[in-house]
Amino acid sequence: MCGIVGYTGPKQASRILVEGLKRLEYRGYDSAGIAVREDDEAGGSQKPIVLIKKQGKIAELRKAVPKDMAGHAGIGHTRWATHGAVNDINAHPHLDASGKVAIVHNGIIENYMSLKEMLEKKGVVFISETDSEVIAHLVAYLYRGDLEAAVKAALGQLKGTYGIAVMHADEPGRIVGARNGSPLVVGIGDGEMLLASDVTAMLAHTKRVVYLNDGEVVSITPADFRISDLSDQAIDPKIDLVTWELGAIEKEGFSCYMEKEIFEQPESIERALSGRMDMEYGTVKFGGLNLSKKELLAIQRVRVIAAGTSWHAGLVGCHLFESIARLPAVSELASELRYRNPVVEPETLYFAVSQSGETADTLYAMREIQRRGGSVLGICNVVGSTIARESDGGVYVHSGPEIAVASTKAFTSQLAAFYLVTLAMARMHDMSHHEGVRFLENLKAVPELVRKTLGLRDHIQKIAKKYAHAKDFLFLGRGILYPIAMEGALKLKEISYIHAEGYAAGEIKHGPIALISPDTPSIFLVPNDHLREKTITSMKEIKARGGPVVAIAEEGDELVASIADDYIPVPKCDARFQPFTMVIPVQLFAYFCALELGRDVDQPRNLAKSVTVE
Ligand code: F6R
Repeated sequence: MCGIVGYTGPKQASRILVEGLKRLEYRGYDSAGIAVREDDEAGGSQKPIVLIKKQGKIAELRKAVPKDMAGHAGIGHTRWATHGAVNDINAHPHLDASGKVAIVHNGIIENYMSLKEMLEKKGVVFISETDSEVIAHLVAYLYRGDLEAAVKAALGQLKGTYGIAVMHADEPGRIVGARNGSPLVVGIGDGEMLLASDVTAMLAHTKRVVYLNDGEVVSITPADFRISDLSDQAIDPKIDLVTWELGAIEKEGFSCYMEKEIFEQPESIERALSGRMDMEYGTVKFGGLNLSKKELLAIQRVRVIAAGTSWHAGLVGCHLFESIARLPAVSELASELRYRNPVVEPETLYFAVSQSGETADTLYAMREIQRRGGSVLGICNVVGSTIARESDGGVYVHSGPEIAVASTKAFTSQLAAFYLVTLAMARMHDMSHHEGVRFLENLKAVPELVRKTLGLRDHIQKIAKKYAHAKDFLFLGRGILYPIAMEGALKLKEISYIHAEGYAAGEIKHGPIALISPDTPSIFLVPNDHLREKTITSMKEIKARGGPVVAIAEEGDELVASIADDYIPVPKCDARFQPFTMVIPVQLFAYFCALELGRDVDQPRNLAKSVTVE
């Protein structure tokens, strides 16, 4: 969703801002803009803060920004519309009436109507339909020569969520940022400082960062930064070092980020497993669970809270917890759980799963559980993200930055984390040492299995070309592969805009089979365990009604090959690990269908990478 970047230092601010916004493109946006404080010596200009905003892609903004634009401090923003239409006026930054205060804002100001009325009575004229504009006017109204003090006074009157960056023309080189419910990171450079909603926007300049907490305000100048709370108590900063390399946020020869991220999975899964497998004892080692063995042993049930693809990973995780660790487990949609007045029982372990660690639904559900005394472990990718920091412990999945909106490598790393946690729990209950070692050997083989499965690329592309113009698809699976069927359907609809449903194969006769016709292909995920024959029966039912069938099944499955119209043979492995080999073909299938249809694979319409509003 919306992104923020701010820069103050010796370099040309406009260039750094536009480049930073480009890095934030993946989050999803509909317009973008920058505000730069021109240098005094540049002279000439009527307004010391120059504002450039454009509806549409960053490329439009880039065209509008003069190459020689002067100024060494500025703020920029990518907007994902909530209040008001998508147009240049509603795009951020917003200025106050005098043109001296510029602000960018992520989040939602809930009481903006009453503040707007108050300011209008004092003669302030609003020009946009946004809730954010009120911040610019309020800061200007409260300004008495000290920007940081004015921002704090304004924040005292705001209700809602925000990550903001603010400049005042009379304080060249200073940017004030603040956070409440919407991430903001300070980047500490050499003689320069940055602010951003996401470290990817500053990675080209510095890896030394401070993640702000809710209720904190930062004031940056090229040489210095100071963090304090709203009552002006100074806060000691905790400086973190970002481990991501710049290359990780480049396409590195791939045509788009999604393709790159799909093909990175052998390495990203390896990273999720690395250093955590204890082959000697057939168990796992975790650094950050923050639970003693006794506490883990006392766990009687597991609940997972998540959204979208992360929820699908949770569904696989719950299958593992129940079948392998013998713990009852349920994966819940965070947006549902939160408003259901949930019962939080003792001896229950909660997991909040989130690639970004910023998803509002998951975050608020986690807080609700914690408020009721529940312990929540995070399974997150983004280090320093809100869920990672507010959870009671957890596991980082180390996928590296995931830039494409459609999640792929984070999903398989989340799966890897669930396999590890399941093993830890199973070994505390009734899994033997010998079985634990075998389980780990299987897990260790996963990156290579995934590498082999990726070799099916050309075959899958041909099949995708054949079916890409269908209007509806069914993805069907059973048992541990049912969530993978749901994930396949989600991937396809997200990036190709083709309607698809993920269904339990055993359920189709209870309704969805009515959809079957020669125009509705079904993608079957055929397991190699006791559910194989039952899945084949469902395939035959579809074939008997004229429905085309694409079957993803273990290599050498002659029976499946003889029934299906198209067969995708995945490498053989233990049935418990088939989610890894089955998800690769559905990711590739969605990707190639989107390519065939000429879609914007990395930034599909209407979607945002990090959904920070409810
Ligand atoms: C699907 C996708 C979304 C996210 C969901 C949760 O490809 O990316 O469904 O999985 O918005 O996001 P995180 O994992 O960041 O909480």
